[in-house]
Amino acid sequence: MIHIAVLGSTNMDLVTYVAKAPQRGETVTGREFRTIPGGKGANQAIAAARAGATVSMIGAVGNDDFGARLRDTLEHSGADTDSLRTVEGQSGTAHIVVDDEGGNAIVVIPGANGTVDHLSPGDEGVIASADALLLQLEIPLDAVIAGAEAARRHGVRTILTPAPAQPLPPELFAATDLLVPNEYEAVTLTGRTDPREAAIALLEVVPEVVVTLGAVGSLYVARGTEPLLVPAPRVTAVDTTGAGDTFAGALAVALAEEKPVREALSWAAAAAALSVQREGASVSMPYRPEIEAQYTA
Ligand code: RIB
Repeated sequence: MIHIAVLGSTNMDLVTYVAKAPQRGETVTGREFRTIPGGKGANQAIAAARAGATVSMIGAVGNDDFGARLRDTLEHSGADTDSLRTVEGQSGTAHIVVDDEGGNAIVVIPGANGTVDHLSPGDEGVIASADALLLQLEIPLDAVIAGAEAARRHGVRTILTPAPAQPLPPELFAATDLLVPNEYEAVTLTGRTDPREAAIALLEVVPEVVVTLGAVGSLYVARGTEPLLVPAPRVTAVDTTGAGDTFAGALAVALAEEKPVREALSWAAAAAALSVQREGASVSMPYRPEIEAQYTA
């Protein structure tokens, strides 16, 4: 069975659903409030587990009620939490406003995620035993770099979602095999506004790039090959929170299974399309049989 390791964040998402997000200084009445387990790391772990992989989650939760629920949610989706530490203090939280078009705005308070600034004893062994390591940027950069470099030492493929968007140091690019930014992150990293130009510019620092383009699909570029645009299924989105994480988790599984790139991207797009039709991040992620039913080659 495919084994995916994830080094990253866990957040409790505090989600407000409202017709239109308020402007500065404005007060509006929303429709619903929910607490939903999320965090880019945990979301990717759950997406990969539901897509059929054995998953190890490396990170931290606080010793509060949210932490216990975050751990439970991972375990219920089949992810191993032996490397998920419980630390003194609050778990990470994400304060999310979702509007009637399915768009969102998010403020993250790192909490326990901020303590994940290095690899703990045992983490390198977990990474070494995986087929791929999924990384994002909601834990301190030092740990992301240490994880990527550990994976590199053991010949494990590293897949980095550079979110939240920020400039990155050369040593992280040097230890990244596949970079999966969205359009906004690709622009932040390169200063180019055209996603195709941004993707090609990123090939100077990493060998493979997938730019996710929301409802349009995704653009794959690799050194020495023609860019490949793979469309996404047409669906009506109710909540896009975690769509990129669903895509990354499913993509890691598909690539580890050695699906050809076009097929892997379509498969990941099918998973993401299913997730945006339901509310919430982790709870919206599809199980493998649903992905197989939605997927068209
Ligand atoms: O990518 C979506 C995630 O970003 C949410 O679940 C939230 O926790 C924020 O980290």
